[in-house]
Amino acid sequence: MSNNPKASSLRSRAWFDNAGNPDMTALYLERYLNFGLSQEELQSGKPIIGIAQTGSDLSPCNRHHLELAKRVREGIREAGGIAIEFPVHPIQETGKRPTASLDRNLAYLSLVEVLYGYPLDGVVLTVGCDKTTPALLMAAATVNIPAIALSVGPMLNGWFRGERTGSGTIVWKAREMMAAGEIDYEGFVRLVASSAPSTGYCNTMGTATTMNSLAEALGMQLPGSAAIPAPYRDRQEMAYRTGLRIVDMVHEDIKPSDVMTREAFINAIRVNSAIGGSTNAPIHLTAVARHLGVELSIDDWQTYGESVPLLVNLQPAGEYLGEDYYHAGGVPAVVNQLMSVGLINEDVLTVNGKSIGENCRDAAIADEKVIRPFANPLKENAGFRVLKGNLFDSAIMKLSVVSDEFRDRYLSNPDDPMAFEGRAIVFDGPEDYHARIDDPTLAIDEKSILFMRGAGPIGYPGAAEVVNMRAPDYLIKRGITSLPCIGDGRQSGTSGSPSILNASPEAAANGGLAILKTGDRVRIDLNKCTANILTSDEELDRRREGLEKAGGYAYPAHQTPWQEIQRGMVAQLEAGMVLEPAVNYQRLAQG
Ligand code: FES
Ligand code: MG
Repeated sequence: MSNNPKASSLRSRAWFDNAGNPDMTALYLERYLNFGLSQEELQSGKPIIGIAQTGSDLSPCNRHHLELAKRVREGIREAGGIAIEFPVHPIQETGKRPTASLDRNLAYLSLVEVLYGYPLDGVVLTVGCDKTTPALLMAAATVNIPAIALSVGPMLNGWFRGERTGSGTIVWKAREMMAAGEIDYEGFVRLVASSAPSTGYCNTMGTATTMNSLAEALGMQLPGSAAIPAPYRDRQEMAYRTGLRIVDMVHEDIKPSDVMTREAFINAIRVNSAIGGSTNAPIHLTAVARHLGVELSIDDWQTYGESVPLLVNLQPAGEYLGEDYYHAGGVPAVVNQLMSVGLINEDVLTVNGKSIGENCRDAAIADEKVIRPFANPLKENAGFRVLKGNLFDSAIMKLSVVSDEFRDRYLSNPDDPMAFEGRAIVFDGPEDYHARIDDPTLAIDEKSILFMRGAGPIGYPGAAEVVNMRAPDYLIKRGITSLPCIGDGRQSGTSGSPSILNASPEAAANGGLAILKTGDRVRIDLNKCTANILTSDEELDRRREGLEKAGGYAYPAHQTPWQEIQRGMVAQLEAGMVLEPAVNYQRLAQG
């Protein structure tokens, strides 16, 4: 039995050192002994630390965690803990059909069971690829045992003929080059593959770099951890330090709820604007906040984030990639710039036991081409604007990606410079769009607005990254490459098109998009933050009745049991796309 005074409060004692239930204790012990752990270790009173392993051959973005976990273990052992590594349901953004975001909640749910039901005193969350970071933070939030995140880190920079090629972003460009006949299919594949030269996650400011940066801004990673490229030696060192630190966190009883406070989320919202973060961030941070019981609304993104300027010059908004971001100072340098103008709640506690202010006070920018000083940003007002109207209760738009071409064509009325009107062209899901976008009978012109519905958490299911749609070929030939796009789905963080996304409620939940018809006039006012179908209330009521009679908006059948289960209980994008019943379970480890 343990004689370590700190040990009595460890939750793993209930399994391995339970005087009230010696039979079960023996059974628990014998099975964890069978691969070589000793009784002495399991009853030593040392914290038992889980390593939630997201890497596997199915998850190449996170696969390097299989290596990093060895250094994490060494850190845990060195600090007086015992490491137990276990697999997390794989989520690979580019490999999972119909969409990886279908599995974020599945990985969350299974990790909650693991953290709750096994003898773990603390956990290292191995994060990286898009949905892995929110899934693991959400589970840590629900169970609320001491937890620390470790990024796998971005891939090295991609290069092709002397130019940087970035994950995802290069695909848009390569498609255009192939369409224009500049490269053939072989060349297309070579160009796209050049952007992925090493292990790690996407090297652009897509959802992965965004969510890993925000995990650090929230205080859940050691300072400086997010941006270190996966293959760098510093990444191995950070893995070791993360292992060391989690053991002390258990002794200090620092839990996710101590770190991820409302103030921490507001810091993260501001950092998201400054880094040019993905439009997926509001969905995921809302989910984490809801599982903690922290108040966070979609309006907070505009209130706290919209006016923050873009400081980080990474593709798709800028020029550079992950290695450059790291060399320029990473998240601490960005936080430091925001601190200099009072935009960071400096007192927020982080996993190293210090405040974010203490951690980032001396974090200077090392390369001002890549991270701009606050006084000389790349763009002003880089956050999201939140729109509302009879089309939806909320949808977001990233104003900083609005191109000059777009501004000239749609936002150039001197009397009304932030509003545009157009004729709606409505597609029901990505297949319908692909089948009909070039159909001349739709008569799409430069005044048209493209709508994508049936792409939300219920409709798709899991919400597809399909709202950004290209213009039809006949318009592209006339030099019109981008039309306004609006939808109830998401948009890839690596795409830079000016779309209105994440519309909630979605068509499949009978939101306003469900009663929109091709040919309707629609008005978007970016000043008043409104988005409306320009038709009478009577007509809208008639359409609502018709929709009800038809049994609601029709969407494709379930393909798997999980699709059916999730569709029955999933929240809208505005509400984090969480499993609604799961929000009732909070702080499970506290009993
Ligand atoms: Fe995994 Fe981008 S696809 S990080
Ligand atoms: Mg993505």
